[in-house]
Amino acid sequence: MSKFAWVTLTTNDTYSLGALVLAHSLRRAGTAHQLAVLVTPSVSEAMRQRLQDVYNVVQEVNVLDSQDAANLALLARPELGVTFTKLHCWRLVQFEKCVFLDADTLVLQNCDELFEREELSAAPDVSWPDCFNSGVFVYRPSLETFGKITEFAVQHGSFDGGDQGLLNLYFDDWAQSDIKKHLPFIYNVAAFASYCYLPAFKQFRDKIKILHFAGKLKPWLIQFNSENRQALTPTEYAHAADLIQFWWNIFCDNVHQQLSDAMAGLAGALSQLRLGEQRTPEQEAYEQLMRRQCWEAGQIDYAGRDSFDNIWKKITQTLESKPSPSPPKEEDKSGTS
Ligand code: UDP
Ligand code: GLC
Ligand code: MN
Repeated sequence: MSKFAWVTLTTNDTYSLGALVLAHSLRRAGTAHQLAVLVTPSVSEAMRQRLQDVYNVVQEVNVLDSQDAANLALLARPELGVTFTKLHCWRLVQFEKCVFLDADTLVLQNCDELFEREELSAAPDVSWPDCFNSGVFVYRPSLETFGKITEFAVQHGSFDGGDQGLLNLYFDDWAQSDIKKHLPFIYNVAAFASYCYLPAFKQFRDKIKILHFAGKLKPWLIQFNSENRQALTPTEYAHAADLIQFWWNIFCDNVHQQLSDAMAGLAGALSQLRLGEQRTPEQEAYEQLMRRQCWEAGQIDYAGRDSFDNIWKKITQTLESKPSPSPPKEEDKSGTS
């Protein structure tokens, strides 16, 4: 058994969709190494079983939350305090070396060579390249390091309220000290156009090894036509349309049939889709829900009024009161495309 592992994190059934697709993308790329996922208590039992099918290790961990509303507001991502939970990855000491991958990453080509790197290796963040992006990083599990980072977090906090601001403070010589710890950008390419240098994206796209859907609009929130299995990519992602379709192809081939209505959030809703069939009115309504949810996911108040749970509650109530809800208003749609 390999002593190396790919590690990800999911705190709910919706992010678990990303974790499932990610695992299958790693398997398709022919990795020789193990797969581990950290789950928090709010991931349903049904989802854990499905994660177990494709991950060698499904490890429950408790939620670590920065509770740092002020810095998270600066990042405009109030929901990301829970990314401190990532720190538990250092506790997987059954492995010698690991690569952490966000659940919103997609592996396009085998990158097992990453395990030749040392802690802490990561690619530059597109918005501030003297910081590394913490969506992909090479590290060595160690209880000692876990203890030091959590203690550091208590004392110094994080400048973005999430793990990236913390880890960049802790590994603060990354920008200057050792170029071997700078992963090439192809190991963590931001998919969103505003983070992306389009001519370079076009020039080097065949070299991309890991795509990262950093930002609010995740692939699972992108509109998807269940009849022809095509993702309806918003214009700001048009350059990456085929890669988003790749995410959905994996979803259709490997994930969809594994979903059940015992799952929460979007995973439960997507379990009701019948791929390739003419839509029933119920299915049509679900597609409406997803379109609507996709739009709402682009709005700002992601943890409060527009949190997934609230959106979902509202949608379910609407559906229950009106069997066939009217489509979103024209001005509502403009947010997604
Ligand atoms: N995450 C999670 N639940 C959440 C938010 C984040 O499990 O509610 C995990 C997940 O692995 C995710 C990572 O933390 O990929 C970082 O969050 P995200 O990818 O949304 O941040 P971004 O890359 O968009 O800044
Ligand atoms: C970043 C990273 C993500 C991290 C978040 C919060 O944008 O992509 O992995 O969790 O910031 O720090
Ligand atoms: Mn991410």
